[in-house]
Amino acid sequence: MPNSTKPAVRNPRSKRPTRAVHIVGTGSYVPDRVLTNADLEKMVDTTDEWITTRSGIKERRIAPDYMCTSDMGAEAARRAMEQAGVREDEIDLIICATITPDMPFPATACLIQQKLGAKKSAAFDIEAACSGFLYGVEIGQQFITSGTYDTVLVVGAEKLSAIVDWTDRQTCVLFGDGAGAAILRSRGEDHGILTTCMGADGSQADILLMPAGGAKYPASKESVSAGMHHLKMAGKEVFKNAIIAMQTAAEEALRKCNLTIADIKCVIPHQANSRIIEAIAERLGAPMEKVYMNLHRYGNVSAASVAIALDEAAREGRFHHGDLILLVVFGSGLTWASCVIQW
Ligand SMILES: CC(C)(COP(=O)(O)OP(=O)(O)OC[C@H]1O[C@@H](n2cnc3c(N)ncnc32)[C@H](O)[C@@H]1OP(=O)(O)O)[C@@H](O)C(=O)NCCC(=O)NCCS
Repeated sequence: MPNSTKPAVRNPRSKRPTRAVHIVGTGSYVPDRVLTNADLEKMVDTTDEWITTRSGIKERRIAPDYMCTSDMGAEAARRAMEQAGVREDEIDLIICATITPDMPFPATACLIQQKLGAKKSAAFDIEAACSGFLYGVEIGQQFITSGTYDTVLVVGAEKLSAIVDWTDRQTCVLFGDGAGAAILRSRGEDHGILTTCMGADGSQADILLMPAGGAKYPASKESVSAGMHHLKMAGKEVFKNAIIAMQTAAEEALRKCNLTIADIKCVIPHQANSRIIEAIAERLGAPMEKVYMNLHRYGNVSAASVAIALDEAAREGRFHHGDLILLVVFGSGLTWASCVIQW
């Protein structure tokens, strides 16, 4: 006989209908110090002309020694929380996307949690390189759609200056430091994140990587003297793959939403190289006026790039409530992702 006094088992997930998830606030932070192409001319054998014509980058931000990835991530998060009107005790989950965690463990998301005082949140990092922010948005969205959480903070934060080889002109001119953040919530309307497409190709892991510092090559005198704790990149290979992957991901996201590029108000691509962005825009048939770029000011900030760009584009009024925006990213792994949002 069932015990009639015992309450029925409750499945918290079954209580809520599927909910559209929105980005209800964005924020970003970049350090004050500007490193210009002219500054780099004094450090390595390069020129402003070469960097500008090959990458579109004019300057990047560099964090001071005392400032960690978690400091920048926490500041970007505070700005997103302020815009969203969300208090630290309302955050259920913090996801931090980074390839430059403060340390291998604990997770940088836990350090951000402590800095925000968001004591009731769960926190973890994800590693999908420059694609990490959109991977994080998709993960966060899944937690809200399932009814597990109401409020998720997604942060993309990087201190790439800490892993760049400042004697390698082929890479050091391309990267910078900074952070971007977004608060995800359901707003009770159909608008929001309409679709996200993610992909990866581990067979090309060796074209963009930091070889040492993990279990394969732990830090040793040999690994340090061989420069294995620095970012390594086969630029041309990355370039080719980036264009194909981002075009394919963007087209897939549009197709899934039954949209064409003409429906999109603003395209926000990963900010790695203006030539990559221009090639993708041309392949998608997007006029450059629709495409947001800030890489001339910040260089490539990996997981933070598209997060900073989203925040700046939103604050500049590049799109308004109801407008459709397309984000598309690419990074080491290889990884890629795209996302259509109705703002
Ligand atoms: C890195 C990148 C800008 C190089 O541009 P490129 O047109 O492919 O240039 P190359 O690598 O062929 O180099 C051309 C020449 O410039 C030289 N060069 C490389 N870096 C230089 C620099 N900073 N300043 C001056 N000359 C440089 C090279 O040594 C080469 O000289 P060589 O012809 O005498 O051998 C480009 O490949 C790129 O952007 N790749 C993708 C990078 C990226 O997006 N990474 C992150 C993805 S998330």
